[in-house]
Amino acid sequence: MRWYLDMDPGIDDAVALAVALNRGDVAGITTVAGNVDGEKTFRNAGRLLKVFGRPEVPVVPGARRPLFLAVPTYAEHVHGPSGLEGYPLAEEGLQAASDLPAWQWMAECLRNEDQPVDWVATGPLTNVARFLGAYDDDRYRARVRTITVMGGSLCGGNVTDTAEFNFYADPDAADFVLGSGWPVRMVGLDVTMRPGLPISDLTKLGEMGTVGAVLAGLMGYYAEAIVRLGEASDQIYLHDVVAVAATAHPEKFTWKQVPLQIVREGELRGTVVEVLHGERRPLVDVAVDVDSQWFLRWVWESLGAYQVKR
Ligand code: BDR
Ligand code: CA
Repeated sequence: MRWYLDMDPGIDDAVALAVALNRGDVAGITTVAGNVDGEKTFRNAGRLLKVFGRPEVPVVPGARRPLFLAVPTYAEHVHGPSGLEGYPLAEEGLQAASDLPAWQWMAECLRNEDQPVDWVATGPLTNVARFLGAYDDDRYRARVRTITVMGGSLCGGNVTDTAEFNFYADPDAADFVLGSGWPVRMVGLDVTMRPGLPISDLTKLGEMGTVGAVLAGLMGYYAEAIVRLGEASDQIYLHDVVAVAATAHPEKFTWKQVPLQIVREGELRGTVVEVLHGERRPLVDVAVDVDSQWFLRWVWESLGAYQVKR
């Protein structure tokens, strides 16, 4: 499969990238402000590509601010001040693959694709919304098979009781994308938290050379951050990796089709609301379950490939 990634690396984004590079042809990456600011997420993508042995993958930075909100929301308390805390990654002096902003570059890339591609978004949806707002015509629709989004939740949140981080950070973008009528699939927190990765399993990364050491450091930091935040647990959740898996293997997920809206302001900001059929919102494919045993096996197989290749 050939896919583009829009991300805000971020520790689970890092694992998602490692898996995606092994499971398909990553044609390009756009970055967005999210877990940390936009300059850092862009640089982090470059640092990761170097570690994963794929520095040639093009990266273009995108939005540094949400669509309309004046103040960005970051998650440094989870991913650390750099966004990739837990292993001292070198600065790589990454050059943007294009001077265009991410959403314009995506349009250019799609014009050059001869087959439909998949797009996986694992950060706030600002870049995706800007793209859909500017390029909503048949020429582009024909080249996008799916847009799979890690974000939202049908039940429970991680920023507030009801809102998930990516949708909370840019609720206007999330509402626009989910109401766009493009082939959007939502993989929300209620599903990404079904397969928990036991922290004790991280020792397996010790057998995987440099990539394993980097991922062990990052995920170790992530696990400690979660404990520090009072959510003591013996497992971690690989949210963004679940969206990658849902793109590659939708048959391992249970889906339902529902029209959705995202609350854009106030106490419930970022909350996903199912609207009544007939309210003229398009149906969105929403994941409601995943084969967790399969997912964990698939992730370990993907990461195991680094041991063989590098
Ligand atoms: C999402 O928020 C971010 O902190 C993670 O990278 C993931 O994309 C989970 O709510
Ligand atoms: Ca993310």
